[in-house]
Amino acid sequence: MKNVGWVSAFCVTHHLISKFWSIVAALVVPGLTAWLFSGGGTQALGGATKTPTFYKDVLPLLQQHCQNCHRPGEIAPMSLVTYDQVRPWARAIQKAVRLRKMPPWFADRRYGRFSNDPSLTPEQIETLSSWSEANAPAGDPNGAPPASHWTENWNIPSPDLVLRMPKPVTVPERGDVEYTYEIVPTGFSEDKWVQMCEIRPSQRQYVHHAVVYIRPPDSGWLRHAPSGVPFTASTLTNEQDRRDARRTDSDLLLVYAPGSSPDCWTNGMAKFVPRGSDLVFQMHYTTNGHPGTDQTSVGLAFAKEPPTQRVLTLQLTNSHFVIPPNADDYRVEVHGTLPNNATLLSFFPHMHLRGKRFEYTIVDPDRGVETLLRVNYDFYWQLSYRLDKPRFLKARTLLQAVAWYDNSPNNPHNPDPSKAVRWGDQTYEEMMVGFFDIAVPANLDKWRYFIRLSDKVE
Ligand code: HEC
Repeated sequence: MKNVGWVSAFCVTHHLISKFWSIVAALVVPGLTAWLFSGGGTQALGGATKTPTFYKDVLPLLQQHCQNCHRPGEIAPMSLVTYDQVRPWARAIQKAVRLRKMPPWFADRRYGRFSNDPSLTPEQIETLSSWSEANAPAGDPNGAPPASHWTENWNIPSPDLVLRMPKPVTVPERGDVEYTYEIVPTGFSEDKWVQMCEIRPSQRQYVHHAVVYIRPPDSGWLRHAPSGVPFTASTLTNEQDRRDARRTDSDLLLVYAPGSSPDCWTNGMAKFVPRGSDLVFQMHYTTNGHPGTDQTSVGLAFAKEPPTQRVLTLQLTNSHFVIPPNADDYRVEVHGTLPNNATLLSFFPHMHLRGKRFEYTIVDPDRGVETLLRVNYDFYWQLSYRLDKPRFLKARTLLQAVAWYDNSPNNPHNPDPSKAVRWGDQTYEEMMVGFFDIAVPANLDKWRYFIRLSDKVE
């Protein structure tokens, strides 16, 4: 199989799993037969199930499930690529995979199936564990799978275009940093459809999150703000720009937060970038005691054919809440009806340090509440969750997002349980945003999607 990197690897994960199952089924039967007929019990079984080796059994799992993060330049602290790199971590790997700490994944398994779920099967966990227990044998290097080919620095197959913030942003040693913006002209002389994209900070340790917006040429948003240099809302001289900085109806290209994955839409689906658009980078930096700079890039891969479906990122947001001091399970909800038919593709919940749990549901007057996704939230891992099977939803479907917060001292991330907490940009304040992606016919833009066409038809 041609290995084109993590995204595509993840896009096919479920096929691999089903293939794996058929292989297991084929192997187990002779193993059992040996046991039944030898009369020797465990010894014969032990003889039939060979000790896993690094090159044959472990490396393929690391390539598929770990190296997207555990390789040079990615977010994990150590590489798990060569035998020498992996060997010292054998025990830690066993522990991390048994506890399901690694690979990180926070969806409650009772609800929904997700195509980017990197979780290991019980058999794969067993393989890594018994390899570790057998003292991590290398095995025969000739049995190794071909090395994964990662496009340098990217998890999407090589981008057609990389747009980088022209000027680096200086992050101070300490204190809060106001949201920082940088407007990056695309220079597109024709309309473009983006099928895959990835945001890459140059210094991840400072980036709490990044949002890249598509600003079409007819948008008035931040029109008086400078292009190609970093700025914050409070430095703007134009009154309206200053007020509007945080309020835009521009489409989202992509959101980045630690651990989040790039977008890779199936053929026929893409995000639309009209010619002459600018990309507006909204960066939330956090300080860590060491001053530095960051210059974030976005990599784009264009659709080869004009798509039939346009992907829009919408959000369910509630900004009017007060989480009482010490509350350990404070619930905030918001709902909305879909204006028109749409195919639901994926979710990306966003909260801050008190975030505990986040749920997306469909509320149906006849059938009750159906949970689409429940995330046991971890502030340090903000992931997107892609439906294994995109779900067609009719106009007027009621979508609900519910968030729970833990403002008690039991929450190890809680900076101050004695404070009542409201909406705000900084991580010691809170947010409640349920982003979700939908696909609509390619000729609909966000505005037209929100006109309730079906109301008129009926
Ligand atoms: C999405 C990125 C990502 C993936 C995928 C991932 N890791 Fe990690 N891993 C990290 C990061 C970041 C850390 C360090 C922070 C932490 O421990 O949470 C880490 C830490 C670890 C540690 C050290 C844990 C400890 O207790 O100190 C081990 C061992 C590990 N990973 C093994 C694996 C294995 C094995 C896989 C694949 C089966 C894997 N990881 C997949 C990002 C990832």
